[in-house]
Amino acid sequence: MNYELTQISPKTYEGNLIFLLGGDVAERNLPLGKKEAELLRERRAEKKDCIVRFDRLPYYTYIVSFDSEKPAAECQELLRRSADALRNMMIADKATDAGLSGEGVIPEEMIAFIEGLTLSDYSFDRYKTKQPEHIGTLAVDSRFFATDEFESNCKLWNRIFWCREWVNLPVQDLKAAQFADELASIASDLGVSCTVFNKRQIESLRMGGLLAVNRGSVDEPRFVVLEYKPANAVNSKPLALVGKGIMYDTGGLNIKPDDYMQEMKSDMAGAATMASALFAAADNELPVHVVALLPMTDNRPGFNAYAADDILSMYDGTTVEVINTDAEGRLILADAIAYAVKNYDPELIIDAATLTGAAVRAISTFGIAAMQQNADNPYNLLNIVGNQVYERLVQFPFWKEYDELIKSEVADIKNCGIAQAGTITAGKFLAHFAKEVPYIHLDIAGVAYFSKKQHYYNVGASGYGIRLLYAFMQTYDLLNK
Ligand code: BES
Ligand code: ZN
Ligand code: ZN
Repeated sequence: MNYELTQISPKTYEGNLIFLLGGDVAERNLPLGKKEAELLRERRAEKKDCIVRFDRLPYYTYIVSFDSEKPAAECQELLRRSADALRNMMIADKATDAGLSGEGVIPEEMIAFIEGLTLSDYSFDRYKTKQPEHIGTLAVDSRFFATDEFESNCKLWNRIFWCREWVNLPVQDLKAAQFADELASIASDLGVSCTVFNKRQIESLRMGGLLAVNRGSVDEPRFVVLEYKPANAVNSKPLALVGKGIMYDTGGLNIKPDDYMQEMKSDMAGAATMASALFAAADNELPVHVVALLPMTDNRPGFNAYAADDILSMYDGTTVEVINTDAEGRLILADAIAYAVKNYDPELIIDAATLTGAAVRAISTFGIAAMQQNADNPYNLLNIVGNQVYERLVQFPFWKEYDELIKSEVADIKNCGIAQAGTITAGKFLAHFAKEVPYIHLDIAGVAYFSKKQHYYNVGASGYGIRLLYAFMQTYDLLNK
């Protein structure tokens, strides 16, 4: 999808026109005839949130009416979803190029609408021999935006597309080494520093968790560290973003049964999300010092695979009893979190991980299961911006009683607790490695990959969390006030 910022006069526009209609707007301002305006008024009287389509062959006029009295976040989400509904109409009408303008609409609402249209236009087409239809060019009325403001949004959406593409790629075509190379190449284009540790280097770092999970694999692991450090950073100690990079999760020797293995190519969504958020910050020169720490391997039941009962020695020296080889994400993340603590002295650590099926059972696909330790203030900010961008958090408790559930008889801790509260014990396991550093854990298992289309999220990888983290970094200076 291409965008053009240009002057649009709705009444005389030659082409398909999308017209957003917010408050009560005088009829004479609308690009409609008298009868059309009457019809629209009737439809709006029934329901303010509606799309009315006028056939003006060879073009169409789509009036997207919305209730601008709603709370801002709700109104913007409604516009994202209306954009998805509109996109379906446009594709059916073969009206793939269009101009966009409106009345009674503010720039934030306009952006939300374009965001919905953009995000809903993505599908994973790379392996299809026949390409599906997409939106061609959207000409946006330049009355609403300054060019750089508009472009910074486009860059963010582009990162979301990249994230989705990586997550959607099957493991046959994206192994740890390839993913690391890809990140290094983007980093070098952006002037972001990138260090890639190979297996030998990971061995010398003694990352016992990452190495154990990799033992059943024929492919090498990688540990990628990205660092974006602008001169005008508002933070003196970095923000550390840690992402789970399990390129494929078979479960290992505790192999996943039946169709539980399906979609496990998406188990590196945390790493893709964190890399994308950091790249978006660099694209738009946000004044925040950020590092991303991305441990990567697949989890397979090879001949030398790690086994239940193994006791691992982690990067920070903690010993871990393996109860289940399918609880592998926390093992590779633990090493990365410990590495961040020791080498970067971060002001805050956030991790994103498709960590537990229990998170999906608890809250389904409507948000992120979140936990925090020593991070009341940043958590509150993250929660607020999450509601604003509609990538929402649900806070799970981190009571000390849960710590008891992961104590081991034979090692310091174990990688699984009891059957209940699996999302929290997974988070608690990770929190152990964050030590005193303020820490937020985001379990994105329910939202990283959708089996069914969910509004402007098509089937497959969603990139959910990138807009959240980006908005958080945009407002990051509030934390130090
Ligand atoms: N990658 C899975 C979690 C997952 C499940 C993500 C469904 C997305 C959708 C994770 O590695 C895993 O297998 N977790 C186990 C943990 C258990 C063995 C304690 C789970 O949730 O069943
Ligand atoms: Zn697993
Ligand atoms: Zn996993």
